[in-house]
Amino acid sequence: MIYYSDYLQLDKVLDAQHPESDKHGAPAHEEMLFIITHQTFELWFKQVLFEVGSIIKLLDRDYVPESDVAVCHARLRRVNRIMELLCDQFSLIETMTPSEFMDFRAFLNPASGFQSMQWRILERTLGLAQDRRVLKHYTDALAEQHKQQLDAATAGPSLFDVVQRWLEKIPFMESGAYAFWDAYKTAVQNMLENDRREVRTLAETEHRDPSEALNQIDANERGFLALFDAGQYAELLQQGSRRMSQTATLAVLFISTYRQYPLLQLPYQFLDAVIELDKLVSLWRYRHTMMVSRMIGMRVGTGGSSGHEYLMRTTMQQRVFDDVTSLSSFLIPAHATPALPAEIADRLQFVNETR
Ligand code: HEM
Repeated sequence: MIYYSDYLQLDKVLDAQHPESDKHGAPAHEEMLFIITHQTFELWFKQVLFEVGSIIKLLDRDYVPESDVAVCHARLRRVNRIMELLCDQFSLIETMTPSEFMDFRAFLNPASGFQSMQWRILERTLGLAQDRRVLKHYTDALAEQHKQQLDAATAGPSLFDVVQRWLEKIPFMESGAYAFWDAYKTAVQNMLENDRREVRTLAETEHRDPSEALNQIDANERGFLALFDAGQYAELLQQGSRRMSQTATLAVLFISTYRQYPLLQLPYQFLDAVIELDKLVSLWRYRHTMMVSRMIGMRVGTGGSSGHEYLMRTTMQQRVFDDVTSLSSFLIPAHATPALPAEIADRLQFVNETR
């Protein structure tokens, strides 16, 4: 007969808190909270990896049925709720004061969150590019056996890879009817022209130099036009200013623009959840960074990084899906969106709703 504590292996879980300060004969009350907080984070990381791993498996195919996209979406929403919970969880550790932390911090040297193998697996599983990493060598901090586990766990495609593949294969993108992109380009250019007029008018009223804002609009326009030019796009990929393939990028733009069509609603919601996850991972990094600066100020980390400064840079630099997020610069209001050719519009209705 199954028994509650056997099933949950509580003997193991509840016997896994052994404060270092006790071992040194200088018990620090707050160390129990420190240990349990870390353990619960790691348990949730496990669940996040479990869900994201299953999403990757479902998407890593040439054809992904709609019902599987729905499953991926539901699991990603769960992951996002966990990440929100984890961001909130930092307030728990903040009930410990910086000086209470100092009572046992020295006993922890040189252990560090740097050695969280699951966090490293998560970064790679999401698809963090090698050249985005702030410290390229940080995996040196891992024990040899963990390095091997990390490589083995991340040998397959990342979430970024499979989302890109799924986008590239979205069937209506292969219909060959790309003429509407010309209308779309004109609509975006009209919108940018409108932005220019507004900037000039406002600058005139306030007697300001409008060139900074105008330069930004020009840069946006160049970036936008490059999306449609294979040569220029290849250059952007090479420079590292874009990472996602041109086909996948246009698919995102298409889905976001025409999301009201029934067959695009689910892809849109799934993409939205992917962007949400990217945001929540950054939020986690930011929340951790803020907590760290409160606890240790500008002191270096026990793992040997510069501490607050290093963590802040990871927050700013280590986004995975910012290619997708940045496309918002080119979204146009519904009233200015060009109508789709009937051939495509029909295919985007549910079967019984076609005209
Ligand atoms: C008093 C509480 C904490 C302090 C002072 C602290 C401090 C730091 C510092 C300074 C680093 C940079 C690496 C280094 O040089 O050591 C770091 C990294 C890290 N910490 Fe914490 N931390 C705390 C709590 C937590 C908690 C509760 C977690 C949850 C698992 C966590 C997870 C991590 C992870 C995953 C990294 C690696 C981040 C990266 O390299 O991008 N930390 N921590």
